[in-house]
Amino acid sequence: MRGTELTQFLDGLTQRIELYINSADNTDHKTVDYLTPSSRGQSTDLSLPLEGNGSQSILDDIDEFLRQCVRTNRPEFMNPLWGGLNVAGFAGEVIAALTNQSMYTYELSPIATLIEQAIVERMMEIVGYAEGFGTLTTGGSNGNMMGMLCARQASHPMSSITGFDGSKYVAFVSAEAHYSVLMSANVVGIGYQNLVKVACDSRGRMKPESLVEEIVRARTNGQTPFCIIATSGTTVRGAFDPLKEIANIAHDNNIWLHVDAAWGGSSLFSKRFRKLMDGVELADSVCWDAHKMMGMPLICSVFLTKSKDTLRAVCAHGDAAHYLFHEDTKDIDLGRYSLQCGRRNDSLKLWIAWREIGDAGWAKMVERYCDLSDYLEALVAKSEHLTMMSERRWTNVCFRFESENLDLNELNTEIRNRLMREGVHLVSRSNIGEDVVIRAVVANPLIDESVLESLVSAVERHGQEIIREIPARY
Ligand SMILES: Cc1ncc(COP(=O)(O)O)c(C=O)c1O
Repeated sequence: MRGTELTQFLDGLTQRIELYINSADNTDHKTVDYLTPSSRGQSTDLSLPLEGNGSQSILDDIDEFLRQCVRTNRPEFMNPLWGGLNVAGFAGEVIAALTNQSMYTYELSPIATLIEQAIVERMMEIVGYAEGFGTLTTGGSNGNMMGMLCARQASHPMSSITGFDGSKYVAFVSAEAHYSVLMSANVVGIGYQNLVKVACDSRGRMKPESLVEEIVRARTNGQTPFCIIATSGTTVRGAFDPLKEIANIAHDNNIWLHVDAAWGGSSLFSKRFRKLMDGVELADSVCWDAHKMMGMPLICSVFLTKSKDTLRAVCAHGDAAHYLFHEDTKDIDLGRYSLQCGRRNDSLKLWIAWREIGDAGWAKMVERYCDLSDYLEALVAKSEHLTMMSERRWTNVCFRFESENLDLNELNTEIRNRLMREGVHLVSRSNIGEDVVIRAVVANPLIDESVLESLVSAVERHGQEIIREIPARY
């Protein structure tokens, strides 16, 4: 496409982007039109034609997609640990796709390489690493896997070359850690039965004394503890494990400490909340998702380690690629510090967004989200039907609707299903212990007090409706 056709196409594209962004808080739009997979499949032409449909079809297909997608930029979208649209980040994403750099060598992505290094260095400074290195990964799941892989490398340096019998190696995580740690244990070769889930206190934080007990137990059983993964911002409750105490235990026992700060890492920007991660500077590695609270378009996730050499050893496979990596650029080619070959330029959007608002802007964002979460918690406390299900530290607000003589798990599951079918407020259904809870997350710049009020009244309305229907059911 070129000339006038290209200009018209780009005009059409820009109009759609503008419309999508501007409709984010229109009250006449839903967050999603709920349809089952089969009815959605039947009502949409998904076929891939033998002969192309021509350039006219591009905008039609985009229209169809925009009509059907979940509108993650709407303020009522409070289901995962991210939401909203950061326009600067979006612009960076578009330019990254437009210019299509791959992050393996300086030669092929010169400015992007320097930008990525600037991001990694700044994030290391914020974490409190005087030296080290890092890489952008495909997400916190991958960052946790990198952490465990570095731990394996540190404890068994030949493992990447000779292979590894991991059946006697054990890693420790909190009982409320993200499920990706199971994947890490699988991929790294210890198997997830060798991942010890350490007990948490009533607020969902790993108990240091239980960690010590588990390490002693493992040693007594002839196993080799090699990795602890602490979480800063757990997925369901937003709990922060006590890093200082855990770091002391890790150091006393010569065990690698990785911190999963995929969700809670942004607390480091705020003077009010930074203390939640006191001791992070003592950890050997950290992962931090900028595509969660910082609102970058997926994917934007950073893995940092104090030990550049360990990361280099874990990623040494690149040395075989004579067609890509050369001796004279060995200190600048980022592909030597990544498990990927072709890799997206995920740092550009973060760099552009960061330069727009600075550290001060991120701090303001964190504090506003926490204040709004306080507001939601207060609404729950005021409601005669709703109860908070966990003490809160972060922007996960876990609550449920209560009513006497009813199965509260069934009731809250049904409330969540009805919210989903209504298609306005999207929240998550999670578990704390045996209890089903409704988890709303404040991580979306368009959320304000009125959106939280409307969420609470929607939950109350559905809850009361269900109760009214019960006699009719029997
Ligand atoms: C605590 C925590 N760690 C890791 C992850 C995985 O992050 P990603 O989706 O970027 O792989 C999540 C995802 O929600 C998470 O909550």
